[in-house]
Amino acid sequence: MNIAATPVVEADQTVYLKDYQKPSFLVESINLDIQVYDDHTNVNSTLVMKRQTTGDLVLLGRDLELKSITLNGQQLSEHEYQLDKEQLVILNAPDAAILNIDVVIHPETNTMLEGLYQAASDLFVTQNEPEGFRKITFYPDRPDVLSVFTTRVEADKKFPVLLANGNLIEAGEVGADRHYTIWQDPTKKPAYLFACVIGDLAVLKDRYTTSEGRDVALEIYAEEKDIPKCHIAMEALKHSMRWDEEHYGRPYDLDNYMIVATSAFNMGAMENKGLNIFNTSCVLADEEFTTDAAIMRVQSVIAHEYFHNWTGNRITCRDWFQLCLKEGLTVFRDQSFSEDLQSAAVQRIDDVAVLKAHQFPEDSGPLSHPPRPDHFVEINNFYTATVYEKGAEINRMMAMLLGKEKFRLGTDEYFKRHDGQAVTVEDWVAALTAGSGVDLSAFLTWYNQPGTPKLEAKGEYDAVAQTYRLSFKQSLKVHAKYPNLKAVPIPVALALFNAETGEQYNLQSVALIENGVKDGMYLFDQDEATIEFTGVTAKPVVSLLRNFSAPVNLDFNYSDEALAFLLQYETNGFNQWQATQTLLERILLDGHNADIYIQAIKNTIPNIVEKDPLLASRLFDVPSEGYLGSRIDIDYSPVKIQEQRNALLDTLARELGSFCKDTYLALDPDLQKEFSQAMGVRALKNIMLSMMARQGDSEAFDLAHVQYSNTGNMSERLGALRVLVWNDAPQAEAVLQDFYRRYKDEALSLDQWFMIQAAHPNATEETIQYLTAHADYDLGTPNRIRSVSGGLNANPVNTWSFGVQHFVDLAKYLDEKNPIMGSRLLQALTRWYTLAEPQRGEVKQALEALQPQVKSKNVVETLNSMLSI
Ligand code: BES
Ligand code: ZN
Repeated sequence: MNIAATPVVEADQTVYLKDYQKPSFLVESINLDIQVYDDHTNVNSTLVMKRQTTGDLVLLGRDLELKSITLNGQQLSEHEYQLDKEQLVILNAPDAAILNIDVVIHPETNTMLEGLYQAASDLFVTQNEPEGFRKITFYPDRPDVLSVFTTRVEADKKFPVLLANGNLIEAGEVGADRHYTIWQDPTKKPAYLFACVIGDLAVLKDRYTTSEGRDVALEIYAEEKDIPKCHIAMEALKHSMRWDEEHYGRPYDLDNYMIVATSAFNMGAMENKGLNIFNTSCVLADEEFTTDAAIMRVQSVIAHEYFHNWTGNRITCRDWFQLCLKEGLTVFRDQSFSEDLQSAAVQRIDDVAVLKAHQFPEDSGPLSHPPRPDHFVEINNFYTATVYEKGAEINRMMAMLLGKEKFRLGTDEYFKRHDGQAVTVEDWVAALTAGSGVDLSAFLTWYNQPGTPKLEAKGEYDAVAQTYRLSFKQSLKVHAKYPNLKAVPIPVALALFNAETGEQYNLQSVALIENGVKDGMYLFDQDEATIEFTGVTAKPVVSLLRNFSAPVNLDFNYSDEALAFLLQYETNGFNQWQATQTLLERILLDGHNADIYIQAIKNTIPNIVEKDPLLASRLFDVPSEGYLGSRIDIDYSPVKIQEQRNALLDTLARELGSFCKDTYLALDPDLQKEFSQAMGVRALKNIMLSMMARQGDSEAFDLAHVQYSNTGNMSERLGALRVLVWNDAPQAEAVLQDFYRRYKDEALSLDQWFMIQAAHPNATEETIQYLTAHADYDLGTPNRIRSVSGGLNANPVNTWSFGVQHFVDLAKYLDEKNPIMGSRLLQALTRWYTLAEPQRGEVKQALEALQPQVKSKNVVETLNSMLSI
């Protein structure tokens, strides 16, 4: 099949990387005055601009009511500028221009959650990345225009909190009812990093002293009742600040760091300079209300946004095509940070699981694009798994290849060269190369072409010569838009194990021919190559791509026995997990027998439970129906996948029955000292419980009910609730009601209540109708939509039946109200073309019927791309 990403959009809407031009004017400084009223907001701006190249003075603006404009003190009349829906062009502008502009905007009716918007009755916030600032005022809203911002914020005193980036330099009253603050941000920044907040919020305060001795005030703003849930985030923030000093030599550069929590947020969080704005789901965390997984997420998002201060803010992107410069690097940094918080193997497992479940399918379908795209219609559509996750993998490969010390020399060089600049992916790779002394330019190919490389490997053992030969071949699926696909450098981390003893061969001693394997790593950068090991005294089992050393699809002809061997003997936890996944995929998709897997699990788990209970829990991962579906490119039948997966789960539950019960009863999270160990024990117990309950065992239901009732920990409570609800236990209805009563005023916990019901294995159209008609369902809150839609999507059988209309209707509704969300949710249907008929045709028809009904660039571009296959 020819998978071409050919968006069918009007040519004039597409922006191309090759057309990049420097801005004709720079902004030396901007003074903003934002006055919020109940039914409108006045924005006055003063821009001090200097010509840099020839060309018009162009200011971008959207949905703004222009009231007045002066140039160097002179009021401009209408024939001195051109105004259309997207921009304001000043005709014959002088080389030095001071512009003063008055506009009126309407945050109180802004449902798109972009620009300045009312997030709650008592809260206004901004979201300006990537192109939201142009909805606040006219401005060269592009990341390569850096300026010094001074911001005055004025509002009614019913909003006691008035924040903006930088240092507070003045505060005062305006008449009896209103007040203002003035903030100055000393660091030059692009407009997408501007933020202000106007609201009635409580605050948690702390302090941090940087390695340079700077005393930083730390503040997390949230609703009063949520302040106790801000401590984990605060600790994570301080930890991140220390971590960036120790690992990258990057101390914080301002005297304050503020975080504001809001539930009206499209994304997870935003790194505005010194004033991060967070989705409540990524900042509020407390064992009583938050699952362990969500707590881990909070810590990693806090770190991510903090790390952007250097990789994103101090050094930013020249244009939005370079998005992965900041996001790919910062995700790599937050992943490394998280590896220090919990089992490093499990962190890697979870990151690769996301990559394989989201990025691989994205990259094999109609939305496939290079990590650095070369064209787009709507940049919001390119905050993708490919830009983020594959981008992170590219950085990980380079970092691993260089090793700790050289990588640090490379990043030091990057900060030295480019602090204060807006740069490109080429600049990043060049700085790494110069700093480390290792030429990494071949890695640019990874940034510039789409698709997941296939890595075929073959092994051949010669018992007489005691040699082991490994040959490699790489290939990419043909892509209509990218005819000149090149081989990429693929670091292959590998180990050889003695199949008889289970011991690992010492590669230095067995490697002979110039095979280029150093420190257990082979850099494969040709179309084909062969390496050979000598002194291999007994038949080996090779373990490839240890720790997932490259984002490729490995094709190696393992026997099931060899995989079971790796599960038992591999010392790299990630590859142990990978072995279970490969085995299970074969059982599920190729009809292999499950016995070998079950035996290996029984042999292996008891040894791991003590050491790393979280890893033990991950070894029980059974690939989701969605993931399995994504591995099928033609005639995909969701029902068949569901049947096969259920059959396997039944087999496992039967065969592991007593093992599960013994393990469940033996483990107690409260005996663990470390959070990460306790988290592991809770995860493992929940899996054991769900396997026991799968047989409809009333004893399991009783245990679950006890677990539900006798805990103050959300992972335990939710784990038990899930088991009872998903197995239709007699107690299910009562615990659901109890959960609702307990948490009806805790939006994030209530999201879980919606999610569990939507994801019920036997959820029906009526289930979803009941949830979306519920008084607590709200199309204005992305988190709530995601909980139901995400839950529904946990069952592909549902996604591809009544779910099609659910997602189509959502996209249609959100096309106008919140197109960023509309475009994202619609992507649940991206893989329609893999379905077997008649489903394939039916979904296609539903998507085609949507086409004439949507208008936003976001939804139109996504829909067109989805149908362009
Ligand atoms: N810069 C982004 C937030 C963003 C993305 C704003 C798209 C506007 C449009 C932020 O740094 C980010 O990447 N957030 C992630 C979480 C992170 C841990 C990967 C998010 O919001 O999902
Ligand atoms: Zn980011």
